Amino acid sequence: MSDPILLISGDSFSEQERTRLETALGSAFVAGPSDMAALPDAVRNSVRAIAVKGHHPLGGAEMDLFPNLGVIANYGVGYDAIDVAAATERGIKVTNTPDVLNDDVADLAVAMLIAQCRNMVAGDDLVRSGRWSAGENLPLNRQMSGSTVGIIGLGRIGREIADRLAAFKCDIHYTSRSRKETPGWTFHASPEEMAEAVDILVVALVGGAETEKHVSRQVIDALGPRGIVINISRGSTIDEAALLDALEEGRIAGAGLDVFLNEPKIDPRFLKLDNVHLQPHQGSGSSETRGRMAKLQLANIEAFLAGDPLKTPVN
Ligand code: 8YV
Repeated sequence: MSDPILLISGDSFSEQERTRLETALGSAFVAGPSDMAALPDAVRNSVRAIAVKGHHPLGGAEMDLFPNLGVIANYGVGYDAIDVAAATERGIKVTNTPDVLNDDVADLAVAMLIAQCRNMVAGDDLVRSGRWSAGENLPLNRQMSGSTVGIIGLGRIGREIADRLAAFKCDIHYTSRSRKETPGWTFHASPEEMAEAVDILVVALVGGAETEKHVSRQVIDALGPRGIVINISRGSTIDEAALLDALEEGRIAGAGLDVFLNEPKIDPRFLKLDNVHLQPHQGSGSSETRGRMAKLQLANIEAFLAGDPLKTPVN
């Protein structure tokens, strides 16, 4: 076999995704960045592209193991685990998979909000357990349509969420780095100010150091007892300890979360709460969308190797 030009990094690649990469290009595989140093010299010297999936940090030290590396292609829109500044310093390109997942992630945000307001998991349990047929009823819950919702981060995914919630007759507020062209939605200069004005906060920020704990203890406290927090971005964007305190003490009504710190080994405090709806970071997880993400990742690598313009460059 000829030397691999592609390194596939991430044990969360599905068999189909791996096969697609492996058949397109000669490749080697590691479970994640921490296994890269153990690769034989000949493999490291031949690698020109790395296809990454997962959220383990990939920094300058790993990049330096591959003297001929030219591109790191991320499977995902969020590339906070990749040190892009270190890549740029080394002349290495980074690509991601934007846009193709917007609909799925926005759908999941709305689904978690409805599930939370309408107590859908408890409803399912009431039916399955036989308690409904034995005469028990679900307590009345909370209307979602017409809520006052604040979106933190009106980027591509935030916008899709806002458009969906506007169709649910919600009053849309938002914070963003800059004011956006909107159909009359209310802009707030800070998340603190917005949290005072809304009941529901939907977090659609990019991850990384610059947005760490953007949803602070103060923001969570400002939401009040009808407050619901929905997060489909990264666990790092919320002060998770403050969120857990507020949920445990009933100072806010609930949360719907697809992302956490230390995934998948999340804080066990979440598991004891009955006012949260928990999902296993599956925002982009339909087969249609994952297929598009895999295709775009490979298209970026192939474009790089052919000397063509990258499809979705980050740096
Ligand atoms: C992950 C995501 O990429 O796109 C993102 O930023 O968080 C997800 O789509 C996916 O879970 C694979 O790790």
